[in-house]
Amino acid sequence: MRELEAVEEEKFKLSPPRSRRNPRAVRRKGERKPPTIVDEFLDESSAVHDMFFPELNMAVDPINSGNDSMYLYYPGRVWLDTDGKPTQAHGGGVLYDKKTKTYFWYGENKDGKTYKAHSKGADRVDIVGVSCYSSKDLWTWKNEGVVLRGEEKNVTHDLHKSNVLERPKVIYNDRTGKYVMWMHIDDANYTKASVGVAVSDSPTGPFTYLYSKRPHDCESRDMAIFKDDDGKAYLIYSSEDNSELHIGSLTDDYLDVTDDMRRFLIAQHREAPALFKHEGTYYMVTSGCTGWAPNTALAHAATSVMGPWETLGNPCVGGNEVFRSTTFFSQSTFVLPVPGLPGSFIFMADRWNPSDLRDSRYVWLPLTIGVPDEAADYSFMFPLWSRVSIYWHKRWRLPDGWRDS
Ligand code: DGJ
Repeated sequence: MRELEAVEEEKFKLSPPRSRRNPRAVRRKGERKPPTIVDEFLDESSAVHDMFFPELNMAVDPINSGNDSMYLYYPGRVWLDTDGKPTQAHGGGVLYDKKTKTYFWYGENKDGKTYKAHSKGADRVDIVGVSCYSSKDLWTWKNEGVVLRGEEKNVTHDLHKSNVLERPKVIYNDRTGKYVMWMHIDDANYTKASVGVAVSDSPTGPFTYLYSKRPHDCESRDMAIFKDDDGKAYLIYSSEDNSELHIGSLTDDYLDVTDDMRRFLIAQHREAPALFKHEGTYYMVTSGCTGWAPNTALAHAATSVMGPWETLGNPCVGGNEVFRSTTFFSQSTFVLPVPGLPGSFIFMADRWNPSDLRDSRYVWLPLTIGVPDEAADYSFMFPLWSRVSIYWHKRWRLPDGWRDS
């Protein structure tokens, strides 16, 4: 644990936002609100933007890196695969495959041009498909290719390139021996609000796309899949105009939802759910709903996966106030348990770059679940919930021997 924490803390100094308006316009129209740091972060012409999207020559390159930088995670830097190409696995998740003792990272391949489908639409990239990367050490990633491809010609197909495929997640079904992928399927205006399901005999695909639906007849946008220790799996999704989250169990083959569904965090407007479990308690990190712009994360906990869910607060620790209130300028996508280190996880998040979505970055940081250390966390001397903490680090690595420690 100490090794996880004993890494460099970033001291960011952000210069006050500069006004880019000419003085005559200011005299005519009056002083306009200066841009916030998040505005500048999103503005590709700003120096603040460049700071958060360092250039390719700063990339994490597992194949050509020297011993000193081995296994170092640098949140926000380009991350090269074993072919020396930037990884394309956005909104992703990681599956540990026991059969091959290998990690598989699935995510959105956004390697296309960013454009707006219409003037008021969101920035988007046409569907390329779902990428898969494999790794033994969670740092060196081999490209296994696009395991579910977008559809070029058939405009009626869910995966037609003009649609939206986001947040793919894969789990393994021990009963059927199949790898099952769930994903957010939508049209360019996000009105279809559905989930899609695909299946494969191999973790590296190809995945066969089965169908999409609105689970429980409800809208479903940002979503996640969670497989519990007892083999039961669940779908968690933002619904009712993203105003609330729903959770429902999957059928035994993981290919559909059952009728059992609970609503939670009602009227809280949360998305990007990432669910995990520690010592019998369920935890979740979510984001607010602000498009591609970063916002404040919240951690939630429950003693039963179906709820009730309670909100614990912002799990982000370190950096500075701006960092903590923007989830370190990123948005949650997955939380991966670190084998051999109970209570330690890797928090996986996306630093979206809406002006060039293919250049969105990954923010992987240590997340720990620990004993609460402040009086406020105690009720009649009993801790209510353990503390969920995501620590900012400019660079960090997992402790040696994390697998078998
Ligand atoms: C936020 C979601 O979390 C992303 O997955 C994506 O849907 C963007 N909104 C689109 O604006």
